[in-house]
Amino acid sequence: MRLLEGQTALVTGSSRGIGRAIALKLADAGAEILLHYHQNEAAAQSVGREISGQSRLLKADLGLPKNIDAMFESLGGTRLHILVNNAGVWGPTPLGSTSVQQLDAMLDTNLKGLFWITQAALPYLQDGANIVNISSVAGRIGIAAGRSLYGATKAAVDSFTRSWALELAPRKIRVNAVAPGYVESDMTSKYFSDPEVLRRAIERSPFGRLGNADEVAERRFRDLIRYRSTAIATAFPPPRQSVATPR
Ligand SMILES: NC(=O)c1ccc[n+]([C@@H]2O[C@H](COP(=O)([O-])OP(=O)(O)OC[C@H]3O[C@@H](n4cnc5c(N)ncnc54)[C@H](OP(=O)(O)O)[C@@H]3O)[C@@H](O)[C@H]2O)c1
Repeated sequence: MRLLEGQTALVTGSSRGIGRAIALKLADAGAEILLHYHQNEAAAQSVGREISGQSRLLKADLGLPKNIDAMFESLGGTRLHILVNNAGVWGPTPLGSTSVQQLDAMLDTNLKGLFWITQAALPYLQDGANIVNISSVAGRIGIAAGRSLYGATKAAVDSFTRSWALELAPRKIRVNAVAPGYVESDMTSKYFSDPEVLRRAIERSPFGRLGNADEVAERRFRDLIRYRSTAIATAFPPPRQSVATPR
């Protein structure tokens, strides 16, 4: 019998990138996957076709609490064993030129959306379930290039993780965070199309390269699900320095 046979996992933002890789790994381990996406239905359907076991597509804009509530209402009596809070947005918000719309868009998805979906999931989560939040190394070190708001939302994800691990312990729900470093995905492709930006990022990476989505979803992620670990915060790749040097 496979590790996650009989379990149901909701992976937010699983139409692409890291969420897709996580969904495929959990499906390999036997879980039924609830493939959440925002707009890219074709990509979500394509991930669904890659999964040989059971999967269902769920659409919701995490920036709209009513969308999140409607998504859960559509689940009926489904019980969740795993919630992966992966969906997120990234972009520049330099001090001095950031609009209210840009500020709201980042907070609505990365911060408020993650809080609301976790709250809305509570009645559907089995006691003993696993929540894994996808944080970022950007929340743990200083980042140049006007990305402070993104880093702050990810620091908040780490903070949620620590507090929720305590808050949900009476239900034996484990809450962990995985904090990737730079990963090649749609999120970063435009940014790294500048060879100089790419060179500087690689120079700061202990492995001398960017990470990839499969690595984030690999064993360490499955270990978070498998072992009775609580409030572990894992960074991959490990940051080389605690404060990135502005260039
Ligand atoms: N890539 C990196 O270097 C990196 C590093 C550290 C942490 N992370 C974190 O890892 C997570 C995934 O990143 P990624 O690189 O895989 O990103 P990605 O390739 O851009 O994929 C983003 C996913 O989030 C969904 N999404 C975006 N906005 C949404 C919204 N408002 N409501 C609901 N879903 C929304 C997208 O759905 P659609 O396909 O429908 O648009 C997509 O499935 C994010 O939380 C990110 O902050 C990424």
